[in-house]
Amino acid sequence: MSCQQSSTAVVVYDESKLSPLVKTSRTFNFVKTELVIKQDWGNLGVAAVVWDAAIVLCQFIEKYKDEFKNKEVIELGAGSGIVGIVAALIGANVVITDREQVYPYLKRVVKENLKDKENVKYSVKILDWTRDLHKFSQKYDIILGADVIYVEEVFDALLETLQHLSHDETKIYLSCKIRYDRDTRFLDMVQKHFTLQEVLHDKEKDIKIFLCKKIKY
Ligand SMILES: C[S@@+](CC[C@H](N)C(=O)[O-])C[C@H]1O[C@@H](n2cnc3c(N)ncnc32)[C@H](O)[C@@H]1O
Repeated sequence: MSCQQSSTAVVVYDESKLSPLVKTSRTFNFVKTELVIKQDWGNLGVAAVVWDAAIVLCQFIEKYKDEFKNKEVIELGAGSGIVGIVAALIGANVVITDREQVYPYLKRVVKENLKDKENVKYSVKILDWTRDLHKFSQKYDIILGADVIYVEEVFDALLETLQHLSHDETKIYLSCKIRYDRDTRFLDMVQKHFTLQEVLHDKEKDIKIFLCKKIKY
């Protein structure tokens, strides 16, 4: 809707008609919990919005919650942190990570959504795949990544991160929207070190979840 005042056009926007990515806040319901996720596309871009890959991975975690409960989990490129939040709510011990620039936003959103929840085990940490790996010595049972395959320059670092954080039985769930040929190239790189199995295809959102496990030689 819009209206005009003399020569100046005043556009009154209706937030419900905006792309979900530019909304300042979105509400989700997972694990019988209302999650209010603030978004900040204007300042932080792709890192401060909830991508469909994250929503599909949250649904997957909720559906297969026994698989995640009491597990040592790390989320990479968490953005808003919604995936890590859902994993913490179902009883995983989760380290939720992203780059330094994203950290204050990520920490705030996670805290806002988990602050009055009992028995949740989580921490929020800076992990830039290109420079922070030496700060992480633990191996995790499960590694989560939603929509993290998109910048070719960091593909080597992301692959190294997956190798560094995993032990022989680690399950890596990558929730992906395959947009470009380079995304498929990353999956080819992954298959040099890990088995890759498509465990879910959400056709409506065009999101696939891949399960990767270290190849045992
Ligand atoms: C498309 S966003 C996805 C955010 C969130 N996982 C989601 O699906 O809503 C990609 C994320 O990868 C993170 N990322 C990009 N390069 C990174 C790097 N070198 N180290 C760590 N995270 C990185 C970005 O900060 C961003 O949060």
